[in-house]
Amino acid sequence: MMLVVGGTGELGGQVVRELVERGVDVRCLVRSGAGIPGAEVVTGDLTDPASLRKACAGTETVVATATAIGRLLAGVRGPSIRETDELGMLALVGAAEEAGVRRFVYVSYAGVDAGLGVPIEHAKLAVEDRLRRSALQYVVVRPDAFQEIHLGPLGRFDLAHGKVGVIGNGNAKHRWVSTADVAALIAAVAVETDPPELIEFGGPEALSRTEAIAFAENLLQRKLKVQRLPAPVARPAIKLLSRRNEAVASVLGIGLLFSLQDVPWTDEPLRSRGIVPHPTTDFLRAQAAQS
Ligand SMILES: NC(=O)c1ccc[n+]([C@@H]2O[C@H](COP(=O)([O-])OP(=O)(O)OC[C@H]3O[C@@H](n4cnc5c(N)ncnc54)[C@H](OP(=O)(O)O)[C@@H]3O)[C@@H](O)[C@H]2O)c1
Repeated sequence: MMLVVGGTGELGGQVVRELVERGVDVRCLVRSGAGIPGAEVVTGDLTDPASLRKACAGTETVVATATAIGRLLAGVRGPSIRETDELGMLALVGAAEEAGVRRFVYVSYAGVDAGLGVPIEHAKLAVEDRLRRSALQYVVVRPDAFQEIHLGPLGRFDLAHGKVGVIGNGNAKHRWVSTADVAALIAAVAVETDPPELIEFGGPEALSRTEAIAFAENLLQRKLKVQRLPAPVARPAIKLLSRRNEAVASVLGIGLLFSLQDVPWTDEPLRSRGIVPHPTTDFLRAQAAQS
C-alpha cells in the first residue's frame, strides 16, 4: 500500500492516476471527504499528527506532494506554509518512521538551495534535512518550475491578456517542465528498485523567461506588456513580505530564481526512465493558439 499526501492537488492527482495505472494500491490522505478514483481515502490533515499516524499505518511507501501555497495564494484562509509545508511535513516524516514505512518520496523544488530566505525554501530544506537524518529510504524530487504554472496566467505569463511579469532581468535559462512529466517521474521512483536519494531535473529545453517572452511575441505577432520588478526592489520586498504574507514572498522568491543563473540540471532523469519530456516551446505554441 502506498500513501499519497496531496492527492487532491494538480500534481498529486496526476501522481495518483499514474500509480493506479501501474496497479499500485493507493491510499490518499484528504482533508475533505472527496473520493479519488481508484484510491482508498482517509481523512486527515498535515496539521493533525494523529491523522498522519493513522494514514501511515500499514503503508510501505509515502509520497508527499502537498503544499499550502496554492490555497493561500487563492486567498483561502487556512494553515500557513510553516504549519503545513514545514511542521506538518516534519510530522509526516515522523509518523512514517513510527509506522515502519520503507520509502518516502518527497517533492521539493529545483534551486531550493539558492539562499533566498523565503518561507517555502525554509520549509522544503527543513524536510529534506529531516529525511537525510531519518532511517527511511528517501527520494527527494526537485523539479524545475512547472510550465503550466510559471508560463501560464497563474505565473503572470498571460498570453490571452497580453501581459507578463518578470522579476529581475529574467535572463537565467531554466528547464520549465510539464506537470505530467513530473508526475510520471514521481510514480516511477516510487516503485523502482534502487532510486537515488536526490533527483533535480527539468524539461528538455533551456530557455530564459526573456527568451520565452520573445518566442511568444513571435508566435502572436505582437508585443506583450512586460511588467518588471527589478531585483534590487524585489529582494527587500521579499524580506518584508516573508513575515506578512509568506505565500506571496515565496512566489516572488521563486520568480527571482529565473534571473539568478542558468540551471545546471537536465532532463536526463526523465529520459532515463523512458519519459519523453514535453518541450516548453510546444507548451507556448499551445498557449498562443488559445489566446
Ligand atoms: N509549481 C511549480 O512550479 C513547482 C515546482 C517544483 C516543485 N513544486 C512542488 O510540487 C508540489 C505541487 O503539488 P500540486 O500541484 O499538487 O499542488 P496543489 O494543486 O496546490 O495541491 C496541494 C495539495 O496539498 C494539499 N494540502 C494542502 N494543505 C494541506 C494540509 N494541511 N493537510 C493535507 N493536505 C494539504 C491540498 O489539499 P486540498 O485539496 O484539501 O487543499 C492539495 O491536495 C508542491 O510540493 C510544490 O512545492 C511545484
